[in-house]
Amino acid sequence: MKKILSILFVIILFNTLQAKEGMWLPILLQQLNEKEMQSMGMKISAEDIYSINQASLKDAIVIFGGGCTGEVVSNEGLLFTNYHCGYGNIQRHSSLDHDYLTDGFWAMDRNEELYCPGLTVRFLVRMEEVTNEALVGITDEMSQLEREKLLEKNIETITELAVDGTHYKAIVEEFYYGNQYFLFVYETFKDIRLVGAPPSNIGKFGGDTDNWMWPRHTGDFAVFRIYADNENMPADYSAENKPYTPKNFLKISLKGVDEGDFTFVFGYPGTTNEYLPAKAVECITEIENPISIGIRDQKLNVMNAYSEKDPLIRIQYANKIAGIANGWKKWIGESLGVQRVDGVQKKLDYETEFNKWAKTQNNDYSSIIETLNTSYDNIIPYKIAYRYFAEAGLGIELVGFARRFAGLVEHSKTNPKDVETLNKLLGNLKGTTKSFFKDYCESIDKELTPTLLQIYYENIERDLMPDFFFNFEKKFKGDFDSYTDHIFQNSMFTDKDKLLKFIEDYKPSHYKKIEKDPAYQIYSSLFSMYRDNVYPNIAKYQAEIDSTMRFYMKAQMEFEKDKVFYPDANFTLRVTYGNVSGFNPQDAVTYNYFTTLEGIMEKEDPNVYDYVVEDKLKELYNNKDYGRYVDKDGSMHVCFIASNHTTGGNSGSPVLNANGELIGLNFDRNWQGTMSDIMYDPDRCRNITLDIRYCLFIIDKYANAKHLLNEMVIVE
Ligand code: ARG
Ligand code: GLU
Repeated sequence: MKKILSILFVIILFNTLQAKEGMWLPILLQQLNEKEMQSMGMKISAEDIYSINQASLKDAIVIFGGGCTGEVVSNEGLLFTNYHCGYGNIQRHSSLDHDYLTDGFWAMDRNEELYCPGLTVRFLVRMEEVTNEALVGITDEMSQLEREKLLEKNIETITELAVDGTHYKAIVEEFYYGNQYFLFVYETFKDIRLVGAPPSNIGKFGGDTDNWMWPRHTGDFAVFRIYADNENMPADYSAENKPYTPKNFLKISLKGVDEGDFTFVFGYPGTTNEYLPAKAVECITEIENPISIGIRDQKLNVMNAYSEKDPLIRIQYANKIAGIANGWKKWIGESLGVQRVDGVQKKLDYETEFNKWAKTQNNDYSSIIETLNTSYDNIIPYKIAYRYFAEAGLGIELVGFARRFAGLVEHSKTNPKDVETLNKLLGNLKGTTKSFFKDYCESIDKELTPTLLQIYYENIERDLMPDFFFNFEKKFKGDFDSYTDHIFQNSMFTDKDKLLKFIEDYKPSHYKKIEKDPAYQIYSSLFSMYRDNVYPNIAKYQAEIDSTMRFYMKAQMEFEKDKVFYPDANFTLRVTYGNVSGFNPQDAVTYNYFTTLEGIMEKEDPNVYDYVVEDKLKELYNNKDYGRYVDKDGSMHVCFIASNHTTGGNSGSPVLNANGELIGLNFDRNWQGTMSDIMYDPDRCRNITLDIRYCLFIIDKYANAKHLLNEMVIVE
């Protein structure tokens, strides 16, 4: 009876956790998901989404740059992604004369499209399971290290074979912690041009205040184009290149969404950790996240206070604050979310049931949890040390900057006669120095330094303390303010002109001056601790964890035989699906599933940077000039939410309707649902999508770039 009860318990527990959760491999859709997707409303087939025989939706999906998704929307290589994904490239083309960030940018013909050096777009040519080939010769008796060595060799063979005689690139990725391997073959395009971007008052509307939040009103899109050579093949930039003719592109629907509608997201989710033991979840949500959150609280307090007072500092620190705040806010939401559902306890209950089952099995499964717990106990102090090292130690901007000179010191010591390399290093450092000071405010750094040092000092075990703290104890007797004064008064890294002169006159013997610098000394003390003590231990225990997790993953799949497991995200192409749906963030509060231009006007505040509304947009609003982009309710919809399971990397991913037509661009999640990287809660986890009608409305009515619309296939 007890056994039946416990099995029932597991089934109940996991049925509720499972609903619509998951990021699925497109080649397995037919086998695992097609039926469910169709029962939820999908009208197309798995073969329409991913086919090995003919053009399918997958041929329109790309990896945009290093960490986003994009999609082709015309027969001439036109590409949509998020504004925040294109931001760096838009910024690089901007200057005071051409302030595309403030004014937006629209190429009114092909000649005006701007080449973006370094930007690439990758298409997936095919994927294929290669588990057997990857594991040739590998046995259970091998150590993790031996296993990894042989694996690497096998993978090399597989990838070489896969791209032989082509211009493709192949990667083999591990799934389910090394229980399965898949090959991915990519084609990379290198001539990518900026076609259009709204002003940041639209593309970044709500800024960091609204980031990770619902209700949301951000017009988070940008438009690019892929160019190819005369043969329609990838090529380096050339004025002769032509717009790429893709194998496929997405049709766009203007029908909009209703609550409950089926949607799916097709893109490249980066990282999730859904199968961790309780101990690991506890470590992330109760130890690691709080450390980073606490340190970033301090940084944001000071940086925001200065930014509010000084417009120059606001510009200088905008991007830094965006980066710091993005992780900070996500982790707060993640920890709160896991606490709210009592996530650690849920995992512990699961482990109890798992262990009971494991004892009935003829293998070593019953020691897995214990082994993992021991490895985590061992690794946690080093993970903590790493967080303080990265967030507090290197968080001092001056120290982070001094670190950039480490290569020069190393070279001067080991290779002083190699003048060519030396000159290259010095040339780079000149650029580094100029760009560092362009966005640096010493008062902010100086105000933060004693706080960061004190947090670090008070929270780190003595045996993991970088040794500069011991000098500090001797010489400054616990006074972080005078220590900070000492650093900033004596460091050569605070004075741009002197430093540039130092670089100008540099001789290899001058490295001693760098080594004596107080900011550089902090860096090198931090680095020694990391290299000699933190990193080797993390590597050692992580290898243990990896090898046990492989075993645990396999065991979990046997334990829950009837559950269909999806592999954790690893920046490979996935499909996730769900329904358009609002949610209840707290008692008595219900969020609607869409936002409108009305809401932008409600948020408008000309005095608050994040909430400035462009005059032209106001005019369109006042005249209700929405054209064919208007919703059937008469308003202009801006964003909507649905229960698709997404994560970082899904930015820019197409959100598609039951017919496989583009209805929006994924760009964020709600704060209450960021826990979905560890544990998906169907009640609260929502992805935030820019309604494609708002995107086209901006292109058409706001920017007057109608020629772009003519390229697209729009279904009304
Ligand atoms: N939260 C989104 C993501 O994780 C958007 C980040 C960019 N926007 C911002 N305001 N910082 O990437
Ligand atoms: N903004 C995220 C990105 O850049 C997507 C939001 C998420 O983490 O789901 O990929």
